[in-house]
Amino acid sequence: LASRGGVLELDLTAAPARVRVGGREASVQAFNGSLPGPTLRVHAGDTIRITMRNGLQAPTNLHVHGLHVSPQGNSDNPFVSIDPGGSFDYEFSLPGDHPPGTYWYHPHRHGHVADQVAAGLYGAIVVEDPDPVPVTRDRVLVVSDLSLDADGNLAEVNQMQQMMGREGQIVLVNGQVRPQLRAAPGERERWRIINACPSRYLRLALEGQGVRLLSRDLGRLPVPEDVTEVVLAPGNRIELLVETRQGASALTAAPVDRGNMNGMMGGAMRGANVPGGDPVELLTLAVSGSADADPGPVPEGRPLRDLRNEPVIAARTLDFAMGMNGNMGRGMGNGQGARMAFTINGREFDPERLDESVAAGTVEEWILTNSSPMDHPIHLHVWPMQIVQDGDRDVTEPKWQDVVNVPARSKVKVRVAFDDFAGRTVIHCHILDHEDQGMMATVQAR
Ligand code: C2O
Ligand code: CU
Ligand code: CU
Repeated sequence: LASRGGVLELDLTAAPARVRVGGREASVQAFNGSLPGPTLRVHAGDTIRITMRNGLQAPTNLHVHGLHVSPQGNSDNPFVSIDPGGSFDYEFSLPGDHPPGTYWYHPHRHGHVADQVAAGLYGAIVVEDPDPVPVTRDRVLVVSDLSLDADGNLAEVNQMQQMMGREGQIVLVNGQVRPQLRAAPGERERWRIINACPSRYLRLALEGQGVRLLSRDLGRLPVPEDVTEVVLAPGNRIELLVETRQGASALTAAPVDRGNMNGMMGGAMRGANVPGGDPVELLTLAVSGSADADPGPVPEGRPLRDLRNEPVIAARTLDFAMGMNGNMGRGMGNGQGARMAFTINGREFDPERLDESVAAGTVEEWILTNSSPMDHPIHLHVWPMQIVQDGDRDVTEPKWQDVVNVPARSKVKVRVAFDDFAGRTVIHCHILDHEDQGMMATVQAR
């Protein structure tokens, strides 16, 4: 679905849907009946108008992940709640200098996000490149996971899975199990890969093909980077330039050790599994036939700003932590009353509370610290983050992301330019179960 004359208008209904998953009927939730929902293609400067209808049994809303648009009013406002049967008219306007790239949309109603994304509610947004890369094919690959029971219904999720962050048993690409792609040798493709899994990290590799990295989350790298594997935390996107070579290849996702809860909860959870297991084949690519013509040179990507050269007006530290909440003695005895609390600076999410207040038009430096034994992929709405220090390592190239993984018992230093928009939004863990259980804070720019 592409914008015309600077406007994209659509109706988006979130509702239960019957789809085929891996050869069997499944009852999921989807946007407009398809898994994933429609791909939106827009340009910098465009206006997007979406009438979102809620055909679910629970409240929901819509978030355009990664887009630099206003957090207020009927734009990308995470505090909106659409009741079952209700609807909401969204309008997002992209600035004229919005970075190109691959973004996505998903519900963001606190308390329901993990359930709704795990059920199938997600879709891709492409902000077209002002300097298009000549390719034979541009593919959008939305990676998601889900678990079904024997009847093809969404499997129940238990408390342990919610604490770890649920990982679905079936991994899908564009709603399909291990789709088979075809190409001819010597072709060039642009793959836009979105990690729409609620909690699963993806260590991606594509052997046997020429693979270079074009983009991480937003913008396009000035010059594509040679890569052998890339790790996507939940919410992250990459774009790959794939130069095809004769033969059969598979895009694989190897498991990522993202920590565990051993030693927490007084040892009660000792022995809990780290989710993961064997590498998953996400898709196969069969390259055969006669070679195509040379697609021509790749134009340089427009460099993003480098905030290391700009004055920092304020610094703050946000600590992401997991701890016990409630009466632990009683709770551990009978299995009731105690639960894990997911906090930022010691507090669970409260939409009414103002946590971080920033001055619009300034650059800030934030130290994201993780005092827990699990990784947390941290996502700030509206304003992307430039990673300047990862652990103790200075990051020397300008590296921008909107989801930044903060490893267990480590820290990452980022800079954020609170440029243009005023308003209130959120920062949170993109392991969506953690977000729903409280690891989210409000951010107000004024
Ligand atoms: Cu992709 Cu606040 O979310
Ligand atoms: Cu987001
Ligand atoms: Cu987390």
